[in-house]
Amino acid sequence: MEKIVYLDNTATVYPKPKEVIDFMCQFYREKGVNPGRSGYDLCVEAGELVFETREMLTKLFNGADPNRLVFTYNASDSLNIIINGILEPGDHVITSNLEHNSVLRPIHHLYSEGIVEVDYVPFDNEGYIDPDDIRKKMKKNTKLVIISHASNVIGTVQPVGEIGKICRERSVIFAIDAAQTAGIIPIDIEAMNIDIVAFTGHKSLLGPTGIGGIYVRDGVEIAQTRAGGTGVRSAYPFHLPEYPYRLEVGTVNLLGVAGLNAGQKYIAKRGLNNIHKEEMRLLDLFQQGLSEIDHITTYGTKSLQNRMPVLSLNIEGYKAFDTGILLDGDYDIAVRTGLHCAPKAHEQLGTVPEGSVRFGIGPMNTEYDILHAIEAVKELAPTRATCK
Ligand SMILES: Cc1ncc(COP(=O)(O)O)c(C=O)c1O
Repeated sequence: MEKIVYLDNTATVYPKPKEVIDFMCQFYREKGVNPGRSGYDLCVEAGELVFETREMLTKLFNGADPNRLVFTYNASDSLNIIINGILEPGDHVITSNLEHNSVLRPIHHLYSEGIVEVDYVPFDNEGYIDPDDIRKKMKKNTKLVIISHASNVIGTVQPVGEIGKICRERSVIFAIDAAQTAGIIPIDIEAMNIDIVAFTGHKSLLGPTGIGGIYVRDGVEIAQTRAGGTGVRSAYPFHLPEYPYRLEVGTVNLLGVAGLNAGQKYIAKRGLNNIHKEEMRLLDLFQQGLSEIDHITTYGTKSLQNRMPVLSLNIEGYKAFDTGILLDGDYDIAVRTGLHCAPKAHEQLGTVPEGSVRFGIGPMNTEYDILHAIEAVKELAPTRATCK
């Protein structure tokens, strides 16, 4: 296989650590039965892995009850469950221009059917939401504030602690979309007054695709919108109201859980802060290299504080899509171009309809990858701009 420089870690972290892949294969080969459905040893062991992983992730978010850690398919699934399980006719929801379509679209469906009212807060020139804007949008019928912890376009990590405080003072439910941050930026639901965390497994949690989850703080309820098998109290005709079954239907993704379990162990070994620090060192290197190149526009803050290792840019004279094709075809660099499922962010940045070229640095990147990317941008930028 041709070696590529993979800088699309914002879409999914690749490659996953060998330890994660090995553990998934081994566990699934040896214990890949239906967890928690029967009393034979293998089934109990599979169930134990699921519970242990609920415990690990609960601890990661400083939650109190592992049963309130629910497994889903991915962040989009989690966000649908949250939005549709909380909002009722007549409710008002506040979200932001930075959101991913997995927040924007479920809300827009409810809004366009006249079920809810919605307000979108903007971000500043650096890419941060002002908590005061959220305070100002609060209404009597505001039921939910839902904000992405970090933007998947410009990487800005939002002041969720301050937003959480405002919500808690008004008894408004505060949910974060932690698709970008879970596993790499500390999330403490107690200190940050967060009620609900939605996460995906395949990014910084280092698991596979097809698994995600929700942590729901004690005292907050998400109505169940689906019903089905749980393997527990099967004679009861309704879906079980208690967590985790309340929001889980059918057999859990055991292979995915095994990946999350091994991912947590890998993160603990390398250190969450160490991984982030190294990614940000590479981002710094990238930004320094780019700062010497003319004819490019980068978007959002250049600060390394409250930031994910994500950088969006455009090269003068090129459509984002074409830059991506050239980076791939001529330099073997994988990036993502376009609107990144965040159309309102691009509207505010003024980059609609073409979007931008997004570089996402991950835990497996090296200095070589960054230097190669800088060289590629350097070669592309002046060539085309001088031909104009
Ligand atoms: C901020 C944000 N939210 C939600 C999602 C959706 O995640 P998934 O595709 O795993 O459902 C993404 C994925 O890129 C994201 O970046």
